[in-house]
Amino acid sequence: MAEERNETDGGGVATAGKDSLSVTDNRTGETFEVEITDGTVKAMDFRQMKVSEDDFGLMTFDPAYTNTAHCRSDICFIDGDEGILEYRGYPIEQLCEESTYLEVAYLLVNGKLPTQDELDTWTYEVTHHTYVHENVKNAVEGFRYDAHPMGMLLSTVGALSTYYPDAKAIDDHEERHMAAIRLIAKMPTLAAFAYRHGLGLPYVYPDNDLSYPGNFLSMLYKMTEVKYEPDPRLERALDVLWILHADHEQNCSTAAVRNVGSSQVDPYSAVAAGVAALYGPLHGGANESALAMLERIGTVDNIEGFLKGVKNGDERLMGFGHRVYKNYDPRARIIKKHVDEVLEATGGGKDNVKLEVASELEKRALDDEYFTERKLYPNVDFYSGLIYEALQIPSAMFTVMFAIPRTSGWVAQWLEMVADEDTKIARPRQIYSGERELTYKAIGYR
Ligand code: CMC
Repeated sequence: MAEERNETDGGGVATAGKDSLSVTDNRTGETFEVEITDGTVKAMDFRQMKVSEDDFGLMTFDPAYTNTAHCRSDICFIDGDEGILEYRGYPIEQLCEESTYLEVAYLLVNGKLPTQDELDTWTYEVTHHTYVHENVKNAVEGFRYDAHPMGMLLSTVGALSTYYPDAKAIDDHEERHMAAIRLIAKMPTLAAFAYRHGLGLPYVYPDNDLSYPGNFLSMLYKMTEVKYEPDPRLERALDVLWILHADHEQNCSTAAVRNVGSSQVDPYSAVAAGVAALYGPLHGGANESALAMLERIGTVDNIEGFLKGVKNGDERLMGFGHRVYKNYDPRARIIKKHVDEVLEATGGGKDNVKLEVASELEKRALDDEYFTERKLYPNVDFYSGLIYEALQIPSAMFTVMFAIPRTSGWVAQWLEMVADEDTKIARPRQIYSGERELTYKAIGYR
């Protein structure tokens, strides 16, 4: 461990081959050995490096956690340089090809692919918890006609904690399981209510005969027909989109769920924190911003001027760039394949100017040094907005469409955090840069 002090020969030769780091504190001349485990060093091991007995000790400074692992996780693997994404070890491409969103949700939450019986039970449980208390419906009715659906979702997910107060017992296995089921089951219902509210349409109750995405389409679009029959092509496209969005390791919203959950609050409140984080335009809100950007560009002729603005720092190419992927985002590649399929099913492909602008914009950006030098490639949000638009989903709903599937990832990460012996309440440090020991002056003397 790091307490051990160790003299090196200056060049570090004596310790070559060891899984440790020799750190010389040039303020004191002392050398410390810091253990390396799984390619990381413990920030706490630096605390022993002090200039005097009463010195607090060295801290690490990492705003935005760009180089800090805040947990161990078995859920999601990303290799950003190679463009690899795996859930519980299974490549995203295979899951999108062979699986369904509900099966993937089981995989994320339970850590393994289900047997047929397990999948049937899981599907039954999720399907039979899709209804929400009628008062939740009344709460949605209370929002202004033009309320943003993410704002509504944030509130209603948080409000679920008041309907299921027993979920506070986070040490109880059964309570944790029920919260996982309820969150995955009710999120589409809450999302669809928010959508119908914006249109002034009556809310549609879940239909247990339909698949998970089919039921969602029914809750969005059902009008006077006795039974809504989803187009299987749209049902499948939505299912694939949801598989792609189900988890993405320690992104902003997942970190928010873990951070807030580390206070041992109930899972509905922790997931509400995830919804809030996802709302932001640099995270889940990027799909909405990407479509608004395509609208603003208007025609292919304006792309050059737009890209100039991006390079001058006046604009941001939404749907491009990623903190982890420094290669093509594998999710963008899969989505792109489904755009045509959906446009064919909805008839939205003909003379679609936005699609034309998106394709040309992608081509030009990928050909431009500004983007290639910075390793900026399309991310999942570059094309997802086009699919949602083809489904006639208003752009304000796009981030809600992301929140639905991400719920299984948030739940899986929350469950893992609760069970992790290393979990403590998240409480970062700061470098205090303000004034000290001022003397209070009465208001008339300031
Ligand atoms: N357009 C133009 N320039 C960009 C972009 C962009 N989309 N993204 C990054 N850059 C530039 C940035 O200005 C910086 O340039 P310089 O080195 O000259 O200062 C350089 O590339 C590195 O960028 P960064 O901001 O340090 O990168 P980051 O890792 O902090 O940010 C990001 C990642 C996703 C927030 C950013 O790429 C971005 O804002 N993209 C647009 C929003 C977006 O599409 N978000 C969705 C992410 S995927 C879905 C999700 O997980 O939420």
